[in-house]
Amino acid sequence: MKRDDRQKLFDTAKQWVMEAGENIRAAIDEPLRIDTKSNANDLVTHMDQQTEQFFTEKIRREFPEHSILSEEGYGDDLNSDKGVIWIIDPIDGTMNFVHQKRNFAISVGIYQDGVGEIGLIYNVMDDVLYAAMRGEGAYRNEKKLPRLKQELPLEEAILILNNFWTCPNHKIEETKMQSLVKKVRGTRSYGSAALELAYVAEGIADCYLTMKLAPWDIAGGMVLVNEVGGLTTKADGRPINILEQNTLLSCNAEIQQELVGEYIKLK
Ligand code: IPD
Ligand code: CA
Ligand code: CA
Repeated sequence: MKRDDRQKLFDTAKQWVMEAGENIRAAIDEPLRIDTKSNANDLVTHMDQQTEQFFTEKIRREFPEHSILSEEGYGDDLNSDKGVIWIIDPIDGTMNFVHQKRNFAISVGIYQDGVGEIGLIYNVMDDVLYAAMRGEGAYRNEKKLPRLKQELPLEEAILILNNFWTCPNHKIEETKMQSLVKKVRGTRSYGSAALELAYVAEGIADCYLTMKLAPWDIAGGMVLVNEVGGLTTKADGRPINILEQNTLLSCNAEIQQELVGEYIKLK
């Protein structure tokens, strides 16, 4: 994508993200209509749906040639990464949204032919926007984020990991996860994959490891992490397929090697 085109698209996407955030804030104390999806803990509200529709209507009007990959069903059925694709999670961290009314984000990644061009993650209630364009660095509001430390002993690293993966499960060897938890300085879990990737990009956490995320959870965050010199791969180090569900490991190259080599044993 040409730089000018990327900048214009970024400005438009940013404006829509801020507007969508304002709408959510304005409605935050209104009663929510809450449904469940794949299981009793997989929540969706009318605000998730309304926010996704807000984006899809605007994109279809302004950019009819672009495609949309999104969580709540208003996007397209895609089987190719060709062209420009908006990958949208209208509310990432819906459980936080429902239970806490904070700690959730709007996540937008814009990709062309599989390459991440734009990433926007908006922490709605804190009014903090993480934003990046390919080749232009990543920002937290107006502040440019420094590149990630490339050397950091695991003993000094903060790892974002859901406790679930230290319990017996079908995806990853839990005893290895227990050793990793003992090795690092500390662990955190924030309940929004998009914010968790933004925190890796910001350098306030050093690694995010998880076993199952959808494209819309990670598309925006991957662009951010890239722009500060971090790597985002599947948990075994293989490249992410942005159209599919993936395991995920996001951190600097050194931590990635150590985790893939010594701690991550997939089942
Ligand atoms: C979820 C959040 C959560 C992650 C889940 C996602 P949602 O997204 O990102 O942190 O652990 O796997 O599904 O459903 O709140 O958009
Ligand atoms: Ca999500
Ligand atoms: Ca969501």
